[in-house]
Amino acid sequence: MDRDSTETVRRLTEEYGSWFAHDDRLAQGRLSGELHPFEHLFSPTRINGVTLKNRIVMAPMGNISVADESGRPSDRMVRYFAERARGGAGLLTSGLVPVGQRVDPTVTERGDLSYFPRLDRSRTVFSGWRDIAAACHAFGARFFVQLTAGLGRVGSPECLLTKHRLPVSASWNPNFYTSALPCRPLSGHECRTIVRAAGQAAADAQAMQIDGVYLHGHEGYLLDQLTSPAFNRRRFGRYADWQRFGLELVGEIRRRTGDRYPIMYRIDLTTALDETYGARLKSVASLRRFAAERTAEMTLGFMANLVKAGVDAFDVDLGCYDNWWLPHPPTFMPPGCFLEVARVAREYLRQHGVTSNAGFEVPVAAVGKLGNPDLCEQALRDEDCDLVMLGRPLLCDPDWPLKAYAGRIDEIVPCIGDQEGCVNEFVEGGHPQCAVNPRTGFEDVFAPDLPVVARPRRVAVVGAGPSGIACACAAARRGHKVTVFEREERPGGMLVPGSVPRAKLDVGNYLRYLEGSLQRSAREHDLELRLGAAASAGQLEQEAFDTVVTCTGGELARPPIAGIDGPHVVWAVDLLRRPALADGARQVVVVGGGAVGCETAFWLAAEHDKQVTVVEMLPQLMTGNCTANRGYLLHYLEARGVKLLNCARLRSVDDSGVTVVRNVSPTVPDPYVTWTPLLPANVRNPLARALRVVDAQETIVADLVVLATGLVPAAGLHAECVRRHVAPEVYNIGDSFCVGRVFDAVRAGFVLGRTL
Ligand SMILES: Cc1cc2nc3c(=O)[nH]c(=O)nc-3n(C[C@H](O)[C@H](O)[C@H](O)COP(=O)(O)O)c2cc1C
Ligand code: SF4
Repeated sequence: MDRDSTETVRRLTEEYGSWFAHDDRLAQGRLSGELHPFEHLFSPTRINGVTLKNRIVMAPMGNISVADESGRPSDRMVRYFAERARGGAGLLTSGLVPVGQRVDPTVTERGDLSYFPRLDRSRTVFSGWRDIAAACHAFGARFFVQLTAGLGRVGSPECLLTKHRLPVSASWNPNFYTSALPCRPLSGHECRTIVRAAGQAAADAQAMQIDGVYLHGHEGYLLDQLTSPAFNRRRFGRYADWQRFGLELVGEIRRRTGDRYPIMYRIDLTTALDETYGARLKSVASLRRFAAERTAEMTLGFMANLVKAGVDAFDVDLGCYDNWWLPHPPTFMPPGCFLEVARVAREYLRQHGVTSNAGFEVPVAAVGKLGNPDLCEQALRDEDCDLVMLGRPLLCDPDWPLKAYAGRIDEIVPCIGDQEGCVNEFVEGGHPQCAVNPRTGFEDVFAPDLPVVARPRRVAVVGAGPSGIACACAAARRGHKVTVFEREERPGGMLVPGSVPRAKLDVGNYLRYLEGSLQRSAREHDLELRLGAAASAGQLEQEAFDTVVTCTGGELARPPIAGIDGPHVVWAVDLLRRPALADGARQVVVVGGGAVGCETAFWLAAEHDKQVTVVEMLPQLMTGNCTANRGYLLHYLEARGVKLLNCARLRSVDDSGVTVVRNVSPTVPDPYVTWTPLLPANVRNPLARALRVVDAQETIVADLVVLATGLVPAAGLHAECVRRHVAPEVYNIGDSFCVGRVFDAVRAGFVLGRTL
């Protein structure tokens, strides 16, 4: 089993970079509804003393900055859960709720403020938890609270400046964000303080009518740090035994809550650091100490011991912060990426006859990119898992279970894996939202139904990209008479070229969903879609609309570079639309190392076998993108041999390739680093190394040059419409207002459409 399960992890981490070459893997991600009525998915089951009405579990997703200042779940948070309970999930789980406030300085901020909801503090916070539990029970759903020991080395280093305290960990470990900052080992007394606090939190949860507790033992958080020899290298004392802290935590909770109270545990089969970084575990200073990770076999043995201590159910994933694309799988990861991991754990528990103290087989939930109901049903049929956990799919569409049950598969709003609204939003200081569902995190602001207007207006929407479609569909649902003009033959705007790489299957799913939404709106409401029709200001004026909304997207801004008009120079979006433009080219230079440039480079290398170099002006590539998405691309670009040149400016293009001026100073950062994240732009890092400039000219041979240097708003039509007063109301949204993300575009379209 040792070699087998360890080999499985190694194979999986390799396959994550190439799965999209296989049609059967792609098919697993396409929503078809073939296995409806999904009998396994909608069959009941139990976790210790609690019955679940179906096998659908909402994954824990940090309820960051949505509780009141005291830590009491707010009305917004109650409604967020109520909506997902109404949507049909059998079990909902909260995001992480720290119990180690007295010990881990990173879980609270200066002034004892906390962006996490709290359960530890006082009776003041209790009522919000009772409200969530009651809201879930009203729809026949169960609710577990996820308790975390703390963040440890993955907590914010700011505590050094704001509290003059070092972050903590199991042993002396580098802080994840600022590896020069050490995290000190917890004392045995502090560990016991956390154990007692967890017991109290569980007893309080039980009193709040919460149906069970769920322990946050994965992804390299403090509980994982204490229970993995990669991070826990203590040589003396009680917690030098890497299993002890986890076992004591579970034992204490069991002691405080009685025999029938469900305890679920989330664990990574391994942190997969060895499989991800191999030799780098010896050569990179901040990774060096983590060489002895908990192997898959060690984890399985630990899981059996956790069951003896009182655990009733598990879910299992892979990875940690230092390879964040694993626990937070982005677009490019395969559908059902951890199903095999769940299967390994489930088989081990069955084969070793491990049953819970209550006498049941121990259910294992699978998690990770399970947004396709067919895939979930098949996994349950194949006994890969006993439960399926959906995180982001339920942010995108809280009604996923209801729609799956009813067979309304084409109405499910699919996740695009960009992590802009959910993960990045809270990393940057907001709260979790969703790029494709503007109501997520705003359930208290936007009611589910749109009020129908008394006096319908004639609305023109020019441009059927994501903002135009969101606007048009919302306005049509309100009863307006909507005409959508799209100059291309297919709606979707930039999503059309954006969905060409096979690795971006998720975007293809969303594109099909948007097309379906337009068709449904045309059938059910007063919406006319005119494809291949570029509206002019004159035409809009002539048709006398009451409202004109321009969402005409962005246009390419050709940089003033010698030779840029050469025949072998193409725009990334044009190349994605017409991949044949790359036929015959062997060596390709991609100019621009933002998301579009890097995704195009990966597509050319991985799907078209080209030798690719990316040229980026800035010190880092893909700045502003989610660390997980960025990490995946950097890691697998490197694996494909793609050369990344940062701090390099394009000087000229000629027949044989490009000339760049490149900073060759040793202070230029290594562009392939995935184990340390980029800090948000507004966070100062006093330990950052200053960049010196030593410029050198370099030529790069290329038979194709691909420009990914960005867009500027195509706002010409809007300006003309305003100037000519083509309608009493004229709006401009999406990229033609400000070039941005799907997240910004959809929100703008929805907000405008529902208020017209
Ligand atoms: C916004 C967001 C917040 C998350 N917060 C947590 C968390 O608090 N605790 C946790 O164990 N996992 C957390 N995760 C990980 C998810 O539970 C889940 O494992 C991951 O998103 C993969 O599942 P999915 O593909 O169904 O989204 C979070 C994920 C997202 C997207
Ligand atoms: S923001 Fe993106 S990744 Fe996150 S849930 Fe929404 S669609 Fe999925």
